[in-house]
Amino acid sequence: MYYPEELIEEVRQKSDIVDVISSYVSLQKKGNNYMCCCPFHGEKTPSFSVNRTRQIYKCFGCGEGGNAVTFVMKYENCTFPEAVKILADRAGVELPQPEYSEEAKRRESRRQRLFEVNKEAAKFYYIMLRSERGNKAKEYLDKRQLSGETCKNFGLGYAPIRGEELLTYLRQKGFTDDLIRDVGLAKIDERRGTMTQFWNRVMFPIQDISHRVIGFGGRIMSTEDSGPKYLNSPETEIFDKSRNLYGMNYARTARTGNMILCEGYMDVISMHQAGFTQAVASLGTAFTPGQAGLIKKYTREVLLAYDSDGAGVKAALRAIRILRDAGMSGRIINMSPYKDPDEFIKNLGQAAFQERMNNAENAFLFEVRMLEREFDLNDPEGKTNFHSQIARKLCEFSEDVERENYLEAVAQKYHIGFDNLRKLVVNMAAKTGGYAAQTAERPKSGIQSKNRNTPEENAKRSQRLLLTWLTDYPQLYVKIKGYLSAEDFTVELYSRVAKRMFEDIEKNTLNPASIINMFEEEKDQSEAASLFTTNLPELESEQEKEKAFHDILVSVKKNSYEYYAARSGVDLSALSKVIEGKKALEELSKTHISLN
Ligand code: GTP
Ligand code: MN
Repeated sequence: MYYPEELIEEVRQKSDIVDVISSYVSLQKKGNNYMCCCPFHGEKTPSFSVNRTRQIYKCFGCGEGGNAVTFVMKYENCTFPEAVKILADRAGVELPQPEYSEEAKRRESRRQRLFEVNKEAAKFYYIMLRSERGNKAKEYLDKRQLSGETCKNFGLGYAPIRGEELLTYLRQKGFTDDLIRDVGLAKIDERRGTMTQFWNRVMFPIQDISHRVIGFGGRIMSTEDSGPKYLNSPETEIFDKSRNLYGMNYARTARTGNMILCEGYMDVISMHQAGFTQAVASLGTAFTPGQAGLIKKYTREVLLAYDSDGAGVKAALRAIRILRDAGMSGRIINMSPYKDPDEFIKNLGQAAFQERMNNAENAFLFEVRMLEREFDLNDPEGKTNFHSQIARKLCEFSEDVERENYLEAVAQKYHIGFDNLRKLVVNMAAKTGGYAAQTAERPKSGIQSKNRNTPEENAKRSQRLLLTWLTDYPQLYVKIKGYLSAEDFTVELYSRVAKRMFEDIEKNTLNPASIINMFEEEKDQSEAASLFTTNLPELESEQEKEKAFHDILVSVKKNSYEYYAARSGVDLSALSKVIEGKKALEELSKTHISLN
């Protein structure tokens, strides 16, 4: 879906970044900027800064940055056109009906067809469950104490023993075998023909947030039946297991201020039946960052209701990390003595579960408690190792206050002297390069790549600095344009930005936020934003500034020269750039450029 560039620009101009961001988080004015705690990573002291003049934002903690569109994309977890739409609605700009290309139309109508097959299949399974042949499945669901209403809500069904029945039904509805295969309901085998994926199973249709059936899970009804306990549809054009969650079509409107993440379909269903309609589960695979992003559209608080066995704990520890990286907090519900939420609810009921929810354990303390199990605390060495592991984990907090609070809590809980543990943490931080260096799992942008001081990283940094300088002092461009071209920026994205920026300066229409709109990918937008927001050295005198600017320009030029020199053996056009570059560099070293 494409909107004309002018229109996007109009929407952006009518969406003041401070107003837009203020409608999501509360901003505080600090000097020329507005600040708040970054909504994209966990922090307690504000390093998220919004600049009204440039119409861009930037987090100095995690490196996220961009314009109003980027912010909405990131916060609402939506695509570029969706973000433009949200802002247009807000600003009262009317957008044209999206124009689909022929290709897009074909793709869309194919997707619609695939959804239709699934919908019909779900209908078929639904009818089967309620027919004579579904008796065994009905009994099974009864045994699992699911009410008729619950079964209806979740569209549960039954896949009969003879798979051909589904095929006959779908063919009658006009679907081809190829389509049935493409949606994952059958396999086409050379010798045996078309074979259905599911037979003799209780069927759980998997719906997306708009209640469209995107796939199925099927469960055997008795341990004597053959095959895996649960069988799922394979991933297809409409079934992305990493970006959907079971039960989300209901959970998204639960408005409970939190969501409960479970492991299984059955868990979700029995939770909903007990009134916890905010329960969701991943789709037979481990929890993913894409799913965390989906949850984050609705809430920041996730309660984990994972199985209490070893595999469940391991999965919970992984999920905690993923949630943390997404800037969300996780708390863990204690399910003991039961295996999973389904069994818990059946045995102790809704109220007891609610109480467990209220007492859910903080993710960090849960991690430490699980860590404890790995050590023999009666052995002095085991105990020492456990304490160093705690210290190492405490180093992961970059916020002093937060780290101190956890330090206190852990010291008390495990009877470690507060000062001793603190010393351990300080030593650990010194050994491993400080607190911040430990936060390697935080989201990283291109700016803070791991190799901070490699020549490439330095070259990139100079190029960013130069572009930021030119944003602040566009009048400088006229003076240096004889020496500098967009090709001197050796990072492809930088060079594209520079080219556009130079054109805009010539036309006197320079606007960083509008340049960011050249890019549709959030990652690219963030990277482009970093080109206008690099921290310039705080220099007092004009002379110092001039020298700094000169140095950066020379350094960019020198890098460009070396870059093309290294390629001149293979690329003839590079050779002329080398010669031109060398001349410019020499001239430049002798030239004085004043800032005004
Ligand atoms: P019940 O036994 O019906 O209560 O299921 P459960 O939800 O307690 O199942 P379990 O904890 O064993 O598994 C949790 C989830 O993992 C299920 O909902 C499935 O999505 C998935 N799963 C379980 N067993 C299998 C299997 O054999 N194959 C596949 N692909 N997925 C499975
Ligand atoms: Mn279960």
